[in-house]
Amino acid sequence: MTPTRPRGKPGDALWSPLAHMPSVLGHRTVIVGGSGAYVTTDDGRELLDATSGLWHANVGHGRAEIADAARRQLATLETYQSFGSFTNDAAVRLSDRLAELSVIHDPKVILTSGGSDSVEAAVKLARRHWQLEGRPEKRFVLSRADSYHGLHAFGSSLSGPDFYREGYGPTTLVPETARFSSTDPDDFRRVVERIGPERIAAVITEPVIGSGGIIAPPPGYFEQLQAVARENDILLVVDEVITGFGRTGRLFASERFGLDPDLLVVAKGITSGYAPLGGVFVAPRIWERFFSGDEAPVYRHGVTYSGHATSCVIAEANLDILEREGLVGEAARLETVLDAQLDRLRDRDDVREIRSGGGFLAGVAPVDEVPAEAVARYALGEGVILRVLRENLIQISPPFITDDAEIARIVDVIEGGLDHVR
Ligand SMILES: Cc1ncc(COP(=O)(O)O)c(C=O)c1O
Repeated sequence: MTPTRPRGKPGDALWSPLAHMPSVLGHRTVIVGGSGAYVTTDDGRELLDATSGLWHANVGHGRAEIADAARRQLATLETYQSFGSFTNDAAVRLSDRLAELSVIHDPKVILTSGGSDSVEAAVKLARRHWQLEGRPEKRFVLSRADSYHGLHAFGSSLSGPDFYREGYGPTTLVPETARFSSTDPDDFRRVVERIGPERIAAVITEPVIGSGGIIAPPPGYFEQLQAVARENDILLVVDEVITGFGRTGRLFASERFGLDPDLLVVAKGITSGYAPLGGVFVAPRIWERFFSGDEAPVYRHGVTYSGHATSCVIAEANLDILEREGLVGEAARLETVLDAQLDRLRDRDDVREIRSGGGFLAGVAPVDEVPAEAVARYALGEGVILRVLRENLIQISPPFITDDAEIARIVDVIEGGLDHVR
């Protein structure tokens, strides 16, 4: 084969996710290193990571202990696959440890490669459950209008905004998915009645909506949602990809918000991003029939890297750090520090809304005339990474090792950015 010279400049071959590529080419921020709450760029800048990357770097960057655990595992066994009767020791160990930490009593643990993978695994299992119960018409999966559940086929269908489905089919990518209001629990009841509970397998929710706009549950929202789900035999899938492993000041946000899931989905914070890994905790009511008897059904789902050994030892090392350094409690403390700092933005006439109250994460929404993108650009110039979500909202979700002065600095640069744009 004759090699061809690719078009474009060196560095132009990478097609970034969710990116307007003409704007990105030539303007990338290329990260080459990380330590604690900071990352460094290829041109030598040090940036405070006020978003933990994509909500993943909970224990901070550059942990030698995790790198050492990974190196040891790679030198021993990179991984071995977990299909059928094979598996690897790290996957077995991690699953036992996770099962002890779980908010679901006596769960089984399905390991995956990430969040979208885990959503796919959980929701397929919910449908399969009803088929095995002799109620195969229960297939609909409902989700909240502002939710984000990743972008595999099910995730694209369940994530709230329509643009995630644009161009992939007439109305929705996976049939029999539907959405309801993120804030009005009566709407959930209405949608259940409209579709008919006999056709609904599951409802999926984040405890605190993350990428869809940092929305803590309104008072009473989950009580009502769970009551309707229970009355109608609708399984509850809780997506803790962002909130799991400490972001809300509890190991799982389900504890904080009184959620009682049948399936609980995790990723990101399980390794703090040191390797791709996700998982699904499965309640006994679903797993029992798969675990006993000659006639037990097989759940025909899985990926090559289900329980990747190196990812699993990284998760173990990450959990060791969370526990030893008390970082879940620290996240609870930092939530109040961030909240207090945000107070000085609350009365500004160029700030439409502050979203907080759901953990160590917050959003600042400037008024429409002030582009959040311009504030984020200013912040980057000042050495702080922020991220802009839809509806002109600035995301703040620092690592749990961020200190009080750094949190003050994050709010300072937002204040400076707002002044600058004005
Ligand atoms: C709540 C939630 N669920 C699922 C996902 C998808 O995870 P991944 O990007 O690892 O596939 C994300 C990613 O941001 C998420 O925030």
